[in-house]
Amino acid sequence: MKVITVINAKGGCGKSTIAMNLAAGLANKGFMTLLMDMDPQAQVTQWLISGDGINSEGTIVLPMAGIALLSDVIQETDVDNLSFVASAETLEELGRRMTDDSEYYMLLSKLLEEITAKYDFVVIDSPNQISPIMENAIVPADLFIVPFESTKAVRSYANVYKLIQNLRNDEPSTLHVLSNLSRLEGLRKRVIELMNSEGIPRAKTEIRSCGWLAQVDEHMGSIFSYRPKSNGAKDIHTLIVEVITIFHPLTAICTKAEVKPNGTSS
Ligand SMILES: Nc1ncnc2c1ncn2[C@@H]1O[C@H](COP(=O)(O)OP(=O)(O)O)[C@@H](O)[C@H]1O
Ligand SMILES: [Mg+2]
Repeated sequence: MKVITVINAKGGCGKSTIAMNLAAGLANKGFMTLLMDMDPQAQVTQWLISGDGINSEGTIVLPMAGIALLSDVIQETDVDNLSFVASAETLEELGRRMTDDSEYYMLLSKLLEEITAKYDFVVIDSPNQISPIMENAIVPADLFIVPFESTKAVRSYANVYKLIQNLRNDEPSTLHVLSNLSRLEGLRKRVIELMNSEGIPRAKTEIRSCGWLAQVDEHMGSIFSYRPKSNGAKDIHTLIVEVITIFHPLTAICTKAEVKPNGTSS
């Protein structure tokens, strides 16, 4: 089981959009995938509840509070191979209280041990602020995906990077992804320049601006079922290939060959 945490300490940079569509895309490829909403704002949870038969009764708050197993709050979705753990606002308060425990930042890692044999990938959508909950999303990650949609997002990353370094004694794989900048040429250039001057390498994948990707939350499923020929679907597919290449290089070659980008709409 590989854990992918989509992270940055800035709202609106594309974390939830990437987490949801990446998880659905991995599931479409046949990987058993668990999407976990670890954001107290529960954006992904809202999207899935409105479109799907998912309910928010059993949320991540219960296992994080030590009163349920993680498997007790895993829900199935309408997408084959995709399961889901909902979030709730109370996660924020729990985060503030949990620091009494000296190993509070290990809580999620410990919970994940129960399900390692069941899933190929866990995709975590993390909160917008540095917080104990974010620390929990950092510790188990095998890969970080960091979206940048502004120069502010690049600056916010400095604090996340420091936090990752404090919590980890390895150099975890990280994909720094341009997000929603393709229609703002000047800003895109400034973001790239700032990334270069900070020594932040850019992932091959860029998630271009795509109106369909912005609307997918109002419809059931993911960009792959909603607008499979859009630039959003192509870019998330490219991201999936880049992710799989990190973990399973041979599978990635097959995945690349299997889907030929087509269509021109965005
Ligand atoms: N590639 C994109 N193209 C167009 N709109 C996007 C794209 N990525 C995100 N958005 C929109 O930008 C807003 C912020 O994205 P979101 O994924 O919610 O960010 P975060 O989870 O980091 O707060 C949302 O309204 C979303 O629909
Ligand atoms: Mg979000």
